[in-house]
Amino acid sequence: MRLSGKTALITGGTSGIGLATAKRFIKEGARVAVIGRDESRFAGVQAELGAEALVLAADVRSAEAMQEATTRVQQAFGGLDILFANAGYVIPTPLQSIDARQYDDIMDVSVKGVVFTMQAALPVLREGASVVLTTSFIDQTGKHGLSLVAAAKAAVRSLARSWSYELLDRKIRVNAIAPGGIETPLLDKLGLSEAEVEAFKAQFVSTVPVARMGQAEEIAAAVLYLASDESRYVVGTELVVDGGCSQL
Ligand SMILES: NC(=O)c1ccc[n+]([C@@H]2O[C@H](COP(=O)([O-])OP(=O)(O)OC[C@H]3O[C@@H](n4cnc5c(N)ncnc54)[C@H](OP(=O)(O)O)[C@@H]3O)[C@@H](O)[C@H]2O)c1
Repeated sequence: MRLSGKTALITGGTSGIGLATAKRFIKEGARVAVIGRDESRFAGVQAELGAEALVLAADVRSAEAMQEATTRVQQAFGGLDILFANAGYVIPTPLQSIDARQYDDIMDVSVKGVVFTMQAALPVLREGASVVLTTSFIDQTGKHGLSLVAAAKAAVRSLARSWSYELLDRKIRVNAIAPGGIETPLLDKLGLSEAEVEAFKAQFVSTVPVARMGQAEEIAAAVLYLASDESRYVVGTELVVDGGCSQL
């Protein structure tokens, strides 16, 4: 019970990495609120997380929606010990084909969304809270065809540093988690056929030193460390969990 008595808000907590982290947090004793957009999945998410969990609809790109959501979290939980700003969206963006809409879609969810999430949560975060922002292993190395996502995540990695400074007086720590290639529903949203997804995975796995995709639970375990008091001397850093991709 490493999060006994704590409260947490997870954006993108209705799928993949966020959902696995919500489950782990609950197992470790936390009360958890999750945010997503697709309400058709909410009943299933509620069933997976249990009746105590708060499942909220909000678009992280909207400052107003995020303020409404965090107000509801405050009413339900009284305050927040953990914020996991994790909502994200990926599409391939080879340089020649980037258009204004793709640019806005990626930057708005990944950068603006994290800024508005953090802003809305600020009044609700308790002294000593832990904030974890989801970046990606490609924010340091880049990746063919994924330049916008890599750039957006590099911006988020930078935000973790600046906000750590700004929040020192409230003893709020901000760190980043950088997943490698993780098996989640995100891959099914790339607009590729099933065969293309399988080919993408096989090609990707051939570049991973440990020769497999990661599991959402492996990211949840690392987020748990950053969220818990065990990491109380860890400030402004990025924890990379990528099977060695960016290191070997
Ligand atoms: N999977 C990987 O290989 C990988 C690698 C590196 C980094 N990441 C990062 O990890 C994070 C989680 O990804 P995942 O793999 O778990 O993907 P996922 O299964 O597709 O989950 C994404 C979550 O974000 C939510 N979301 C997306 N846009 C949103 C918006 N505008 N407002 C509110 N919620 C929104 C989705 O809810 P709805 O479906 O309801 O919109 C969903 O709950 C992302 O930031 C992603 O960039 C993933």
